[in-house]
Amino acid sequence: MYDPINDSVLEAWVAALGKGQSLGRTDYLRLLSLSDRDQLAWVMGQARAVADREFGRGVYIRGLIEISNHCKNGCYYCGIRNANVCVERYRLSEEDIMDCCRQGYELGFRTFVLQGGEDPFQDDDWLCEVIAMIKEKYPDCALTLSVGERSEQAYERFRQAGADRYLLRHETANAVHYSMLHPESMSFENRMRCLRTLKALGFQTGAGMMVGSPGQTLECLVDDLLFLEALEPQMIGMGPFIPAPNTPFANEPAGSVPLTLLLLSVLRLRFPRVLLPATTALSTLDPQGQEKGLMAGANVIMPNLSPLTVRRKYALYADKKYLGNEAAEQIGSLDEKLERIGFHISYERGDFKP
Ligand code: 5AD
Repeated sequence: MYDPINDSVLEAWVAALGKGQSLGRTDYLRLLSLSDRDQLAWVMGQARAVADREFGRGVYIRGLIEISNHCKNGCYYCGIRNANVCVERYRLSEEDIMDCCRQGYELGFRTFVLQGGEDPFQDDDWLCEVIAMIKEKYPDCALTLSVGERSEQAYERFRQAGADRYLLRHETANAVHYSMLHPESMSFENRMRCLRTLKALGFQTGAGMMVGSPGQTLECLVDDLLFLEALEPQMIGMGPFIPAPNTPFANEPAGSVPLTLLLLSVLRLRFPRVLLPATTALSTLDPQGQEKGLMAGANVIMPNLSPLTVRRKYALYADKKYLGNEAAEQIGSLDEKLERIGFHISYERGDFKP
């Protein structure tokens, strides 16, 4: 497919990325098609060295609270898409959410992430109240929202209410690919506009994509890299695609773990300070996903802090993990696991440092 790559060429690419330079389309394509085991291991080692330099061996933790699995959208890949009648729907109340935060705070979490489908019943007013309540009770904590596309006014109000960060994966930066993943009612332009707005409003903003989503080519992933270079997000959420039952993509193959790891390393090299989680999707596909993600350059883990009764219902994809090292109440054993590979949990807020 692609020619083998000289070690000296590879070294020059890693050096260029380290200076904040883009490799451009052609060389990114060649880098992403790297398949030599030793070279892949070397790139990951270089990425880990950058993460060590920027963050040491501390891993930031974020308590993930899945506030609703109702969603008005019909994304073809997503297990909680509107048309999936097999989902037992739920939405958390303000009290439920405050309970999660209290438990999370006691466990040592200093970032809470409110994530949900685009649920019209959890409207802007309601969310502003919840944000204000959390920030009043836990002024030392960072609050991250991940509740999809909303109006500019809504984002502004969330910011004023005290939200610090916002995750909105762009999913794919290729407009044609975007239309293969989403129904016509959803717009690529609007998603891009939302991301620019969030950044302009001063949110620490997270974008990101799935690796191996149906129809994705390496060229699409290069589009993602070039898009991320233009956006300069503070956080990048990226994990493998995993088919979800009862969705149009139920029978599609999952994304590749090695390619996900290579991309994590490329992101770490190009964006040394970016907040980069080892995602639940990665651990779902590979029992060693957390360790491998960290060793490739990730520096964040997002344990699940949702009430145990709803966790299985927030099924974005098949067999999504929510126990063991993905469970907030088990951070003790997570820390032990991290210690065994030379990492430890950092209990700091873990804001982006410009
Ligand atoms: N496989 C992997 N990731 C998925 N997401 C949604 N569905 C899937 C799936 N089937 C991701 C999307 C979304 C995030 C919350 O979860 O990227 O932005």
